[in-house]
Amino acid sequence: MKYYIETYGCQMNVADTELIICILNDAGYKYVQDIDAADILLFNTCSVREHAEQRVLGRISNERHRKKSKPELKIVLLGCMAQRIGERLIREDLGIDYAVGVDQYKALPRLLEQNQGCLLDFDTNENYQHLLPVHQGEHCAFVTIMRGCNNYCSYCIVPYVRGRERSRPYEDILQDLQSAVKRNMKDVTLLGQNVNSYHWKDLSFPALLKRLQEDVPELYRLRFVTSHPKDLSDDLVQVMGDGGKLCEHIHLPMQSGSNASLIRMNRSYTYEQYLNRVKALRAASKDIAITTDLIAGFPGETQEHFEATLSAMREIEFDYAFCFKYSEREGTAAAKYQDQLPEELRLSRLQTMIELQREITLNKFRAQIGKEVEVYVESFSKKSMRQVSGKTRDFKIAVLDGDRSQIGTLVRAKVIAATAGTLICE
Ligand code: SAH
Ligand code: SF4
Ligand code: F3S
Repeated sequence: MKYYIETYGCQMNVADTELIICILNDAGYKYVQDIDAADILLFNTCSVREHAEQRVLGRISNERHRKKSKPELKIVLLGCMAQRIGERLIREDLGIDYAVGVDQYKALPRLLEQNQGCLLDFDTNENYQHLLPVHQGEHCAFVTIMRGCNNYCSYCIVPYVRGRERSRPYEDILQDLQSAVKRNMKDVTLLGQNVNSYHWKDLSFPALLKRLQEDVPELYRLRFVTSHPKDLSDDLVQVMGDGGKLCEHIHLPMQSGSNASLIRMNRSYTYEQYLNRVKALRAASKDIAITTDLIAGFPGETQEHFEATLSAMREIEFDYAFCFKYSEREGTAAAKYQDQLPEELRLSRLQTMIELQREITLNKFRAQIGKEVEVYVESFSKKSMRQVSGKTRDFKIAVLDGDRSQIGTLVRAKVIAATAGTLICE
């Protein structure tokens, strides 16, 4: 039997897809990239915002016609949306045959032997021990170090669909990294909803970062996402300052610059505490790039609260910010708040945010002109076969003149121009 899989949502889902490929391949199924050739279509889904769910449902409704000419074709819903509403969706006759939640992937081959069904139980102990995900990247790999989240930020569905926090054993992480590096993926990003709370036996997150750098000498670069600002310890700041393989970039979601909103988001830090962490990071690592996530139009956000976020953006000058329009998620605390904002206001604030960040990003990228950077060359550039493209240590896309021989290598280059997204180097 051949299967085809599409992935939505965050990098955790990308990594889960690689795990699912391992599980299905071990059970004798064959992974194909051509949807026409497949007997099983899998969709690994995201529930973080309404839009993410609508997109997948649209995709499934576009593909279910295939069942007319191929009646034995099966459609499987995996991941966060399956966990949240999979059971209901199967009943609704959308063409979905199976729904499998995030802790049940090992049972997927067994389920496929039945005609239809759901597997949605949480299993707090499940961290897919001894399984080696089949990484699909060429030069970069994502390696899961923990699953679940205990934080319950009031807007967020993740704790409800991913279950309780648990850490992956060191030996599994090490083996995963070694196998990625052996296959030439030398830029590795460690994944977790809140990597700072990684804990396996006596190993803390900062200690994990040190140990992996020592134990995998062939690795070029090490990164991680995501860090919750409330748990960003001085130890981590220090390890970041040590440099080495650990790159000068941190993704540190701020969500809002207003303390009133932060309290109602249940983020457990004030803007001042956030700023203090930013300053500590910049003191330890002078050129560290800081990126963030921001939410526009959270319930009860006044014009004044919103302006506090804009002024925080100006004060901190993030290298990049992922800006999101607040989306009510059924069952979360914020969805019950009585002061939801009208859609138009959420949208107009989102646009204001995006425009401001574009200016800041452009300035940040232009400030790199004249500097020497290290580029890990990953591919030819989209525009020309005489140019190659890759990333700097601080997670900026760079293009430079080059040829095939440079792909997969580290190149020193000088930045000569910049747009709000690309460094042009020579
Ligand atoms: N664990 C990560 C983020 C997971 S979700 C963290 O704690 O930072 C990624 C981002 O989606 C969040 O940082 C937040 O900015 C955004 N997000 C989550 N729920 C949302 C919602 N209901 N509406 C809009 N944006 C949301
Ligand atoms: Fe969601 Fe907060 Fe957990 Fe991140 S830390 S996944 S935003 S609940
Ligand atoms: Fe990720 Fe979306 Fe799930 S952001 S954890 S795939 S809800």
